Amino acid sequence: MKSLLITIDGPAGAGKTTVSRMLAARLGYSYVDTGALYRAIAYAAKTARIASDDAALEELCRKIKLEVIPRQDGFCLMLDGIDISDKIRTPEITMLASAISARPVVRKYLLYLQRELGKNKQCVFEGRDMGTVVFPDADMKFFLSASLKMRADRRYEELKAKTGQTREEVEKDMACRDKNDSSRDIAPLVPAKDAVMIDSTDLSAEEVVSSMIRRITHLI
Ligand code: DC
Repeated sequence: MKSLLITIDGPAGAGKTTVSRMLAARLGYSYVDTGALYRAIAYAAKTARIASDDAALEELCRKIKLEVIPRQDGFCLMLDGIDISDKIRTPEITMLASAISARPVVRKYLLYLQRELGKNKQCVFEGRDMGTVVFPDADMKFFLSASLKMRADRRYEELKAKTGQTREEVEKDMACRDKNDSSRDIAPLVPAKDAVMIDSTDLSAEEVVSSMIRRITHLI
């Protein structure tokens, strides 16, 4: 059986994480949510009181040790030996991750780490620039989108018990991140030319995964 490297890019709330996890489980592959890596650096910067535009980010990236340890249901994220997987989903870290992700030094550091993780293929990578920058030669690329309203509804349902944000605040933050992530100079959120586009606005996660599997079967 051929080993594939599959990328899924798209904006926040399009369903990338759910779908990547399901697709990886279906194929017996591992999956990496690369947004979590940007969140981990944002968490490290916040802990060290380093702002997103501070030159000290470079030294921070040199000093930290970030590890992705595969688990049955995904992976666990270790920062300097401590599991921070549960600490990176706050609204503050979310916005800080978007801001630091525009810094070339951060992207350079993570480019290397992501390519190391993808070396053995058999992996689904989800993010913003997987098919365009990190893995331009991926075996299969998807770009998953959905309307802003639907994405905000989904994210609100997912986070309401945890963050206390209103539905309006969730949509406002999401629109702001869409703008930051799509308009930055380096590795902006754009579909790769050879990506298969899927609009998940009116589709269930199961329907999205089935449509992906249909596109992949002939490659395996
Ligand atoms: O997928 P997420 O919401 O957890 O990502 C958090 C931020 O990280 C997102 O706003 C932009 C950045 N990011 C990126 O620039 N490139 C990626 N491949 C993944 C995430």
